Amino acid sequence: MNVLRFDSETAWVNGVTTFWRDRLRTNPRLRICLPSGHTPNPVFTAMGQAVANGQASFREAEILALDEFGGLAPDDSGRCANMLRRYLMDHIDLPKERFRTIDTDASDLEKVCRDYDAAIGAGFDLTLLGIGLNGHLGLNEPGSSIDSATRRVELHQATITASAKYLTHANLPTWGVGVGLKHLLGSKEVWLLATGPAKAEIIQCIVKGPITAEVPASLMRNHPNCSLFLDPKAAALI
Ligand code: PGA
Repeated sequence: MNVLRFDSETAWVNGVTTFWRDRLRTNPRLRICLPSGHTPNPVFTAMGQAVANGQASFREAEILALDEFGGLAPDDSGRCANMLRRYLMDHIDLPKERFRTIDTDASDLEKVCRDYDAAIGAGFDLTLLGIGLNGHLGLNEPGSSIDSATRRVELHQATITASAKYLTHANLPTWGVGVGLKHLLGSKEVWLLATGPAKAEIIQCIVKGPITAEVPASLMRNHPNCSLFLDPKAAALI
């Protein structure tokens, strides 16, 4: 795992964005898996600006959402797909049909999962991931199998509690559907993103602790092309 420490949050945003623009230039048909959540939003904003300035294009790319909560209304602003639309999709030139999301409202979730796995197909070229306070990656909670595919997951209490920050109401999601570790570990390149003091302790575990399914992000130390992008606050304990 390459650990990349930046001197400020601004430098962190510029760093991630510069690499992302490079990957799109090198491979315009990049197949990307993207998280929602607070961490990536400044990067998404900067990528929207890069597209507006003609410095990047998603015209030939494909984006698949990493996960989706269950039980939220379709127009809930806290739904992962809606966050991704608001912060990124509405500001880039990706054709709408090449943005895939997970339909947690469908009656046959098993079919939704198998169809999503089929859409992932040969795999992602690039996967961006936030990191949960418990070390989760997307909805791969502690204890998840490295062989797991897209599936329904019951959220751990820490994840349920943390979801409140995305919502404007107290009806917190208790489950969701997310891409499994098999596809995340199989992505050609993975970028783990973390900023702020709240992430410092889990970053210490991921970088210096044992590689264990109990801290899913630590499993990325076994990935051949994974980079951990940190701002000074998230990197404070390493
Ligand atoms: P955050 O969420 O980016 O909002 O901190 C990360 C996560 O829980 O996966």
